[in-house]
Amino acid sequence: MSDRLPLKVLLTAGQIRDRVRELAADINRSYPAGRDPHLVSVLKGSVIFLADLVRALDRPVTIDFVMVSSYRGDTRSSGRVTLVKDLDIGLTDRDVLIVEDIVDTGQTLWWLLDNFRARQPRSLRTVSLLDKRSRRTVEVDIEHVGFAIEDRFVVGYGLDYAEQFRQLPYIAVLNQQGRQRREDPPSTK
Ligand code: IMP
Repeated sequence: MSDRLPLKVLLTAGQIRDRVRELAADINRSYPAGRDPHLVSVLKGSVIFLADLVRALDRPVTIDFVMVSSYRGDTRSSGRVTLVKDLDIGLTDRDVLIVEDIVDTGQTLWWLLDNFRARQPRSLRTVSLLDKRSRRTVEVDIEHVGFAIEDRFVVGYGLDYAEQFRQLPYIAVLNQQGRQRREDPPSTK
């Protein structure tokens, strides 16, 4: 169904590949020798980014996954995000790097940072491929950002609309009429 919705390419596969390499170089520089990062990928949207990122990082890493559910229409800060799948590996004394596909309002990342901080990692940082800054409702620090983008609904390279389009090797803007309504709750990432 939604396969036929109109798409306009925003970031080509080549642009993404180049930027992922730059991000990997930045991340490499920010962790000293002997402090290899523990990457936590936020399912499902960030898996393709994670796969490319770890192969561009020229050092050993460990990987884990977390899945949360966001209630997009609910503006209450408590209860807006719930844990669907928890981590398999503890975070205590690890150099944790959260790997996000996109930060929009910031509510999901805010919740993750708060939850992970309580598990006493040695350090806690974030890399997000995309950043929709104009949509922010809570302040969150993101140490590494791939691309700052405008407030458009994007799909591809892991990002979906109703579970469609994740396989696209590029990132595209979904036509306005195909955009998920903000009040469509709940959805897992
Ligand atoms: P938040 O508003 O920062 O909490 O983001 C919640 C989640 O909404 C993101 O992690 C994505 O899974 C999803 N999301 C936000 N904007 C987009 C988009 O443009 N395309 C696809 N998913 C999005």
